[in-house]
Amino acid sequence: MATSQRTVFFGRFVSTPTPDAYLIQHGAILVDRNDGHGVIAKCVWDDSLDAEQLDKVCARLGVEVEDIRLVKCNENGFFFPGFIDTHIHASQYPNSGIFGKSTLLDWLTTYTFPLEASLKADPEVVATNGNTVNGTNREDVEQVVKKQKTDPLARARLVYDKVISRTLSYGTTTASYFATLDVEATNLLADLAFMKGQRAYIGRVCMDHPETCPEYYRDEGPDETVQKAVANIEYCQQVDPSGELVAPIVTPRFAPSLHFESLCRLGKLAQERDLRVQTHISENVGEVAWVKELFPECESYTAVYEKSGLLGSKTILAHGIHLDDTELDMIRSRGSKISHCPSSNSALGSGFCQVRRLLEKGIDVGLGTDVSGGYSCSTLDAVRQACLVSRQLGYVKGGDKKWNIGVAEGLWLGTVGGASCVGMAGKLGGFEKGMIFDVQEIELGVAGSQNSGPVDIFGWEKLEDRVDKWVWNGDDRNVSRVWVGGRLVHERK
Ligand code: GUN
Ligand code: FE
Repeated sequence: MATSQRTVFFGRFVSTPTPDAYLIQHGAILVDRNDGHGVIAKCVWDDSLDAEQLDKVCARLGVEVEDIRLVKCNENGFFFPGFIDTHIHASQYPNSGIFGKSTLLDWLTTYTFPLEASLKADPEVVATNGNTVNGTNREDVEQVVKKQKTDPLARARLVYDKVISRTLSYGTTTASYFATLDVEATNLLADLAFMKGQRAYIGRVCMDHPETCPEYYRDEGPDETVQKAVANIEYCQQVDPSGELVAPIVTPRFAPSLHFESLCRLGKLAQERDLRVQTHISENVGEVAWVKELFPECESYTAVYEKSGLLGSKTILAHGIHLDDTELDMIRSRGSKISHCPSSNSALGSGFCQVRRLLEKGIDVGLGTDVSGGYSCSTLDAVRQACLVSRQLGYVKGGDKKWNIGVAEGLWLGTVGGASCVGMAGKLGGFEKGMIFDVQEIELGVAGSQNSGPVDIFGWEKLEDRVDKWVWNGDDRNVSRVWVGGRLVHERK
């Protein structure tokens, strides 16, 4: 029935439309899901509005009381825009926190490729390796082995189901996912994201270079790479023909993993079909040297992507730590985006991403958890780490505070910055008429959470202080409800 699709969200709304301060507003937002997208139809900001006088609120919004559902924010919290994770490997979720002392290239071969390769319909893999689903308890594993008899993709289903649920529980309303080489399992990720209602870009990982990829985990060559990429793209477009909730993203893993011909054909494919692209760039010094060796005809890492047609305005480049000025200018002129992955950069010892320099160049920057180079799928944690790492960078740069990312700026990167990266600038990341209602409800002082104790003991804290405390001490226990396009997709148990 049409009437049930109109919701009034009432209470306190916090957002970061600019990087330097919180915007705190009190009032009501009307979301009409009849449009199919959950767009904000109207906002009324007025401190004197009272939800007890619902007829007055509705009059201001221009709707009838009987026509709406009311969602009131909890007294001890606020609505905040949903987080946008611009770089996460759904397939690596079981390895979160497992990286030992490795750095990028040995981490890939030791931990990452074997896990990714196992997420496919292959009974052999389960028979020999079924009990080693890292990070999953035995009961789950036994269930999977049992289910695998009737559902060949049970392993992938378990992992993808969990990563979507978990990221939603941390307030991630949009995620740009790398899956694996396997088309069927990657298609399943698209199905699950659509069913669970998370906004998601789904990438079938492409890698086919026999000298750089293991034999057990690579395509045969450019033809297979492109054909399988197309199969996944077309599947995702069937899952959500509007492309608003779930959409494909062309995903060459990184330059070293592909023949130059494959990179070029994937670039052409993205251009011809006007698709998003995601890959890695300049994350690790050994990787940069490798690219130089593998592509001697290209003057830089960025030039490899530029020459292959992958450097467009819908391209998200993860990491971007060791880029020179010429490369940054090239990225800026093409309008490509950079996903800053601070937890991963620290965990794998990759280096400092100079976020301030990127922003000063005019490049759009968002945050990525980069699970499982990053140990946590929480974007709030990525916000925190972006702030901390920026201070260490400032120290290395001689103590200049200009490098510091403030807390509001960290949140801005995780919402507004992310929206720019995924081509949703002005549509996601804030509370304005015409924007999509992708929102998390934050509750402070939740019993049992880290920040249950230090909540305004003396009564002198401003709301801004409490938002800061949420960022430094908060976790999923503070996320009470999550909506994507106005649809409730997570509720804390
Ligand atoms: N470079 C190539 N593949 C990967 C990956 O899976 N994670 C990270 N962090 N970097 C990569
Ligand atoms: Fe990554």
